[in-house]
Amino acid sequence: MLLSVILLLVLLAALGWLWMQVSVSPHHFPPLVPGFLHLIQADLPIHLLSLAQKYGPLYRLHLGIQEVVVLNSKKAIEEAFIKKWMDFPGRPQTFTSQLVSENDQDLSLGDYTPLWKAQRKLARSALVYVQNNMEPLMGQMVQDLCKGLLDQAGSPVSISEEFSMFTCSIICFLSFGEKRESSVQEINSLIKELMKTWDSWQVQFLNIIPFLRFFPNPGLRKLRQMIKKRDRIVQKQLRWHKETMVEGQIRDLTDYMLQKLREQGEGPSQLSEGHVHMTLVDVFIGGMETIASTLTWAVAFLLHHPEIQKRLQEELDQELGPGFSGSSPKYRDRARFPLLNATITEVLRLRPVAPLALPHTTKQSSNICGFDIPKNTIVIPNIYGAHHDDSVWEQSCEFRPDRFLEPELSSPGIPFSCGARVCLGEALARLELFLILAHLLHAFTLLPMNESSDALPSLKPTFGIVSKAQDFQVRLLPREARVGVITSGSPL
Ligand code: HEM
Ligand SMILES: *[C@@H]1O[C@H](CO)[C@@H](O)[C@H](O)[C@H]1NC(C)=O
Repeated sequence: MLLSVILLLVLLAALGWLWMQVSVSPHHFPPLVPGFLHLIQADLPIHLLSLAQKYGPLYRLHLGIQEVVVLNSKKAIEEAFIKKWMDFPGRPQTFTSQLVSENDQDLSLGDYTPLWKAQRKLARSALVYVQNNMEPLMGQMVQDLCKGLLDQAGSPVSISEEFSMFTCSIICFLSFGEKRESSVQEINSLIKELMKTWDSWQVQFLNIIPFLRFFPNPGLRKLRQMIKKRDRIVQKQLRWHKETMVEGQIRDLTDYMLQKLREQGEGPSQLSEGHVHMTLVDVFIGGMETIASTLTWAVAFLLHHPEIQKRLQEELDQELGPGFSGSSPKYRDRARFPLLNATITEVLRLRPVAPLALPHTTKQSSNICGFDIPKNTIVIPNIYGAHHDDSVWEQSCEFRPDRFLEPELSSPGIPFSCGARVCLGEALARLELFLILAHLLHAFTLLPMNESSDALPSLKPTFGIVSKAQDFQVRLLPREARVGVITSGSPL
């Protein structure tokens, strides 16, 4: 009798304990989307958005053998990366990210560590420094671009090519003080090729299906070659900078970072030249195609919306004078160009060039929108998807810069992501976008190749690490008032 009472009590206690376990820690994970083949979807960001319509803004899904959590709304992304930024600042370490980042010294692909924080701080202060000191020179370069385009006025111009070369020349100049066209060209084609190879299936599949690494892979061989070539170029610049450096004189990003490195001294827990090397690589990769692609999208949308182009030109004429009143647009005056600002905001919302940003990982367990996310989870912010949310932006698929003319009505998107990992080049990108579009639209009217409607560029994005417009050509019609100025020279 006593024995059975004790047994019963033990049983009850065990049941009670079990019950406690279930009710105290009822893990509430995001819904799991079935299937393993999501990665081969042609337009992944759009596919991920369509899943959000069924499963909600936050869900789990398998990309290859990896389980990831996808965030599909601005609210969820901000909750994770801003409010709970301490939980989400990591980067997954994959086979290819290790390959391209070498010795783990890369900034954009590096995991969140004390050394990484020091690297980001150094890169940030270097960018702020050169940007503050080089804006006038950048303005001059943009004017030279417009002069060059004037020679091509009337004939078909591959505008994305122009933008790509030009943004590369700005980055070369900021990073290395390099202005030689041959060097710019070499770096431009190298980075383009590198990104294409890295983004190819042959290479990306190696992350998902590890045993493929043991087979011959032409894509992988090519990637290794490009990385070698990339490193040779950067190494050469680093050597030249060290040889010609004058203490206290800063010519460019490289000088700035090398000098800060000397001040800090050497040590195992300190930044090394390898970090400077990889930071420069990041600036090139981050800063070329992204800005060029955004500019190309802006032109594509303006060809579809001549009425907005006209209003932009009126705004520019009104602030700068239709003829040449001695002023060219300055970034610090950008508040005087609300429509241009709204247009840039709208292009970045509709075609965020890094549609899935870069993947994050959780450094500790967290909770988003009421769902538990364990430590070491890969988290993908679907920025493209988040920007196509009708509950945040009315008729979200429409190009309507006017929605941003009354900031209290519409909040901007998050094209640069947000929080601890927010794009390091946001300020530089915004400066370039503003300067280039302001000069270009003040100097030229952008026209499609002919009057028929099929001469308009496609607005369908090609998705990759960077989303791009399909190539198209434009005609540039010089605007009377500006022509005289540009040709008669010395506008500064
Ligand atoms: C329109 C232009 C650009 C867009 C839309 C853009 C967008 C982004 C996005 C979405 C991320 C990922 C953030 C995250 O992981 O949450 C990123 C990271 C980054 N971007 Fe940009 N970017 C642009 C231009 C630039 C430029 C000009 C630079 C060069 C200075 C740059 C350098 C970087 C770097 C270094 C990172 C990695 C940051 C980190 O891991 O902490 N980007 N960018
Ligand atoms: C540009 O527009 C955005 C979106 O409305 C707004 O948040 C931002 O303050 C504006 N910037 C300037 C300089 O007017």
